[in-house]
Amino acid sequence: MYTYEELKKFVEHCSRCPLARTRRNAVMGRGNLKSDLMFVAEAPGSSEDRDGIPFTGPSGQVFDQLLGGIGMSRQDIYLTNILKCHPPGNRDPLPEEQAACIDYLKYETLLIRPKIIVCLGRIAARRIISEDYRITKEHGTFLYRKNTWLTAVYHPSAILRDPLKMQEAEEDFAKIWKRYREG
Ligand code: URA
Repeated sequence: MYTYEELKKFVEHCSRCPLARTRRNAVMGRGNLKSDLMFVAEAPGSSEDRDGIPFTGPSGQVFDQLLGGIGMSRQDIYLTNILKCHPPGNRDPLPEEQAACIDYLKYETLLIRPKIIVCLGRIAARRIISEDYRITKEHGTFLYRKNTWLTAVYHPSAILRDPLKMQEAEEDFAKIWKRYREG
């Protein structure tokens, strides 16, 4: 078992896939290491690549708004990505990049031991919940597996592209809050 600081060092020095050559900063997850609530998004965007911190760009503002809507902030949750490095041009993570990176997420999950894992968007939901997950149809539903509740919501950048999705996302966050309170 690794500590957070050890894992962060591994991530920052990682060269398991070619993204190591194009990244500016690897982006380790961050937040409350004791939280029951872990959010997993897709991969760092260009702002995150610059800052080395998850969700510092425009989608981060949407994420903070959704969290704030249930009375929470980043200090209350743990936030990470499937990929720790930015795919050039913001393309979808390749299967081999995900395979190279997934151990870091496994170790983060062992460290945090969340009661609820929330996938932000299709890529995370397909990696974590099921490979044929349909985000439009299945977002906001819960599945119990290995002592953990799993759910998915729209990715904040999908909400930026289509603001009509905001209301559904707020409803999904309300369900997450309810499940979190129920323990
Ligand atoms: N999009 C993601 O999936 N993750 C981030 O950290 C930022 C944007």
